[in-house]
Amino acid sequence: MFQPLLTKNFHYGRPASLKEYEAAGGYEGLRAALKMTPDDVIKAVIDSGLRGRGGAGFPTGRKWSLTDRKSPGQRYFIVNADEMEPGTFKDRFLMERDPHQVIEGLLISGYATDAGKGYIFIRYEYTEAARALETAVQEAKGAGFIGKNILGSGFSMEISVHRSAGRYECGEETALMNALEGKRANPRSKPPYPASKGFRMRPTTINNAETVADVPHIIKMGGSAWKTLAAYEGGAGTKLYGISGRVKNPGLFELPTGTPLKEIIETHGGGMQDGYSFKACLPGGASTPIITPNNLNVPMDFDTVSKIGSRMGTGCVTVFDDTCCIVRAMINNLLFFTRESCGWCTPCRDGLPFVYDILQRIEAGVAEMDELNVLDENCETIYSNSFCAFAPGAVDPVRSMLRLFKDEVEEHIKLKRCPCLN
Ligand SMILES: Cc1cc2nc3c(=O)[nH]c(=O)nc-3n(C[C@H](O)[C@H](O)[C@H](O)COP(=O)(O)O)c2cc1C
Repeated sequence: MFQPLLTKNFHYGRPASLKEYEAAGGYEGLRAALKMTPDDVIKAVIDSGLRGRGGAGFPTGRKWSLTDRKSPGQRYFIVNADEMEPGTFKDRFLMERDPHQVIEGLLISGYATDAGKGYIFIRYEYTEAARALETAVQEAKGAGFIGKNILGSGFSMEISVHRSAGRYECGEETALMNALEGKRANPRSKPPYPASKGFRMRPTTINNAETVADVPHIIKMGGSAWKTLAAYEGGAGTKLYGISGRVKNPGLFELPTGTPLKEIIETHGGGMQDGYSFKACLPGGASTPIITPNNLNVPMDFDTVSKIGSRMGTGCVTVFDDTCCIVRAMINNLLFFTRESCGWCTPCRDGLPFVYDILQRIEAGVAEMDELNVLDENCETIYSNSFCAFAPGAVDPVRSMLRLFKDEVEEHIKLKRCPCLN
């Protein structure tokens, strides 16, 4: 029987207090980690096979081992809780329901990477989660988990909750560091990588909130044991999957990593609402390519979803029914990305409004058939020439629409109106 780890304290329906968190085994991971060497903590995370839950799936233990832990001076660990990806709401629940779990994860992560200062960079609109974290930081300080010489180990760490000024680009790790420094939130060139020159040009490690919340469980269970919780041999641990859109039971579910997409939608999401059938979905946020019914059995994990031409992203699935116009859905996506572009590079700043405009022309029935080639070429140019991963994520779903729904898009142009409207 599957035992949830990340969501086990969610039943309170409010932030679990320090007392409740500790009663459920909280801070035991920190106690255990502080008795290990930082190298052994990193090894446990490498053994666990944990991959970053922010979207890209970079191996967490490997990232930590790349951090410059030798040069003298301050090091930082940042929890990325910006979560502005449309359709994604997993980190919000983690922080609202069990804030100590994120804090414990940050403390262990800071210990492993020798970071004396930790930040939780949280989305502007997440006021409830920010309040829960701020209260939990005070509770943890009072109990001696945060501050000088934590539990007599000699390791010291301070933690601050930083509320973002509010921009999707602030979630990109280098733009986030600029934002945290009080500068314009544009991405930085890499190299130098944050591992050597990050926040305030000091060695910095940055991980998603869910990634960090996994760490106490990995330390308590042991990396290899945590790894085996996955639903298939290539996966690792558990994962928070979200479902929204035209399903009966939208919500957030902790499941073994690699649970098939079909099972997430039908068993946990309750299947499609009565009278509607599944048309397509975005598997992990608005920046992930569309998946169609023939690939519904795909295990939801990074490599498996990549193999079918999409990306798992955040693992929060947006489901479209058979009445959904795919051109309209992409217009909706592009409206978000066009508004949110930070404006730093030309392909993103000027290219995305151009893509948005062609999509609108198709919907309005005024586009010519050869504009599909222009759309395709522009998406390709934007994808290959922009400064950071923002714009590739913005055009990737549009490119998948041109691949998977070519007939439907051409029908719009031929009919000179949206065929989905009767
Ligand atoms: C435009 C953009 C927005 C992003 N937003 C987030 C975010 O809100 N949360 C997040 O964890 N990662 C986000 N990322 C990914 C981060 O740059 C980074 O890869 C991640 O925080 C690393 O953590 P992880 O290895 O634990 O996934 C974003 C990336 C881009 C390009």
